[in-house]
Amino acid sequence: MRRDKFYITTPIYYVNDRPHIGHAYTTILADVLARYHRLMGIPTFFLTGTDEHGQKVERAAREAGITPQEQADRTVVRFRELWKRLQITNDDFIRTTEQRHKRVVQALLQKLFDKGEIYEGEYDGWYCTPCERFFTEKDLVEGNCPECHRPVERIKEKNYFFRMSRYQDWLIRYIEEHPGFIRPDFRRNETLGFLAKSLGDLCISRPRQRLSWGIDLPFDKDYVTYVWFDALVNYISAAGYRFEPAKFERWWPAIHLIGKDILTTHSVYWPTRLRAAGVDMPEMIFAHGWWLVGESKMSKSLGNVVNPMDMIEKYGVDAFRYYLIVEMILGQDASFTEEAFIRRYNTDLANDLGNALSRVLGMTRRYLAGTLPNPSLVALERSEDQAVWEECQKAVEGIERCLEEMRLDSGVAGVASAVRAVNRYLEHQKPWELRKRGDSARIRQVLYTAGECLRVCAGLLQPVMPSKMAALRGVLGLAGGAPEWRDLRQWGKLPGGSLPGTGMILFPRIERSGAVEPAATEARERGVEQAENRKATDRRKMRQNVSFEEFSRLDLRTAKILNAEKVSGTQKLLRLEVLVGDQRRQLVAGIAEHYRPGELVGKTIVIVANLEPARIRGIESQGMLLAASKGERLRLVTVDGEITSGAVVK
Ligand code: ME8
Ligand code: MG
Repeated sequence: MRRDKFYITTPIYYVNDRPHIGHAYTTILADVLARYHRLMGIPTFFLTGTDEHGQKVERAAREAGITPQEQADRTVVRFRELWKRLQITNDDFIRTTEQRHKRVVQALLQKLFDKGEIYEGEYDGWYCTPCERFFTEKDLVEGNCPECHRPVERIKEKNYFFRMSRYQDWLIRYIEEHPGFIRPDFRRNETLGFLAKSLGDLCISRPRQRLSWGIDLPFDKDYVTYVWFDALVNYISAAGYRFEPAKFERWWPAIHLIGKDILTTHSVYWPTRLRAAGVDMPEMIFAHGWWLVGESKMSKSLGNVVNPMDMIEKYGVDAFRYYLIVEMILGQDASFTEEAFIRRYNTDLANDLGNALSRVLGMTRRYLAGTLPNPSLVALERSEDQAVWEECQKAVEGIERCLEEMRLDSGVAGVASAVRAVNRYLEHQKPWELRKRGDSARIRQVLYTAGECLRVCAGLLQPVMPSKMAALRGVLGLAGGAPEWRDLRQWGKLPGGSLPGTGMILFPRIERSGAVEPAATEARERGVEQAENRKATDRRKMRQNVSFEEFSRLDLRTAKILNAEKVSGTQKLLRLEVLVGDQRRQLVAGIAEHYRPGELVGKTIVIVANLEPARIRGIESQGMLLAASKGERLRLVTVDGEITSGAVVK
């Protein structure tokens, strides 16, 4: 059953503080879901925003010595910036202080008031400011808030109430009859458990003299609207309720993605209110679990709040998105540690995915002169080819199914296992042995099949890692940043032709120290292959002829060494600063056992100037120098006599 639209929301976040990893998680999850649906050609509306009214924000403003509006204006920028950095593709961003939102809140209040759904009464009970929730005496746990366990405040005052109790029986029945309405199942049971006790009416106002930072009640100017009444309405105000009927008709109802902390407000306050106002129910309320830091809850007082910006700086946006999506089993709590992050990164990304790509690129370069065959020349000829392709097709189906079932983490895990199947396939097919037998036809078949499988896996991971997967598509010769979903189910969409010569390091390995090194695996593997080759054959025969054209693609130039120093913590590495024409460059070279830094300064050497930069021990190397070596001995290639740096060598 194909849906005709996809409307997804995140909670709107309070602007009392800067965003943390929890906010980032919900928003990334919504973004990934939105991107999948767009890829599938399903019209998508993805909404996020900020919750700007209420006591919590007012207090934060007071502490900062600014007005609540200033507090909101400052903090909203942090959210917007973070979403931009995280490549969040929300279609709208709603702030509850916007006129387009306020007018809907007021229209809805007036409507409910006119229908007799709102009445005036006395509130005598407790209030939790961190949660912005009212509680009765018997709700409290050891005198504290039952949700966050922090102290509550006593409130006794005249207020307005929504007749929520009227809808208790109706809501229980609705939830029972719509098993997919609240997910996962255990959250649905939690809500039903909550509804098994008698449901009271809901206080929906605060007297202005106690709290002025809110939307005016249209029927009593001495009051402002309770922040949760205001906030939930964002889901319909942004979708055009009341004022843009065609838009509202198009998008509503929505899927609400929330954290488990705000289940009751979404699964009880919101549906009863919509029912009273005669609005259709949301399509689904999905509550995910908590990100814990190690074993504990993230909190300012514990000083363990993870700032997503730091993670992005250190490890990149794509890897961070990937980690959050695969590491949390949807619905359950998950524990965040940098160690687990690094482990996951190195295994899934640097090793499995990065390795599969560098193998395909490297072996295509070495065995097929950098050119993959045209798809019309390759078919799935052997059962092993069939099998690895089918693994990838299973991953496509897995993603489709998991999207429907909201089990995205396991869908993505399915792709990771398809990637591993590609690596196993290469290990079993052993192109390096085919090479020894001179079976180029089979090499072409194997490398094309592996490339095809990578195309599918990259397509499937594209919503999770948009930049890296676009880059991967690029090196495989695929046009455009994103695939067509239906192409992922078709064999032979990889165009073939020439692939970029030098290995592309998609995900440099992270060493424990936190330093990032180039994928050691490729080098290691190349070593193994070369050793194998050497054992069997005369080395001279292994060198294939290259055309002049191929040779000309190398930009060899003279470079003058300006500076040299040892790379600390290594035996073999020197960091050189060289001049190439009027350009200064940095090279990392494994020559420390052959030259002392002092001997090098002033020499004019030859470098490959257009070699893709690589990071070695965290230092960028912008080219490679040429040296002759035999056995223990190594000597640099230099020029005979004076010549300027940057001169072409050919
Ligand atoms: O509750 N792990 O806003 P809020 C996972 N304004 N997710 C987390 C998290 C964590 N440790 N911490 C926060 C509000 N979140 C209201 C919502 S909606 C009409 C109004 C995420 O700034 C999670 O999605 O406290 C949670 O529900 C939300 O941030 C709460 O953000
Ligand atoms: Mg909160």
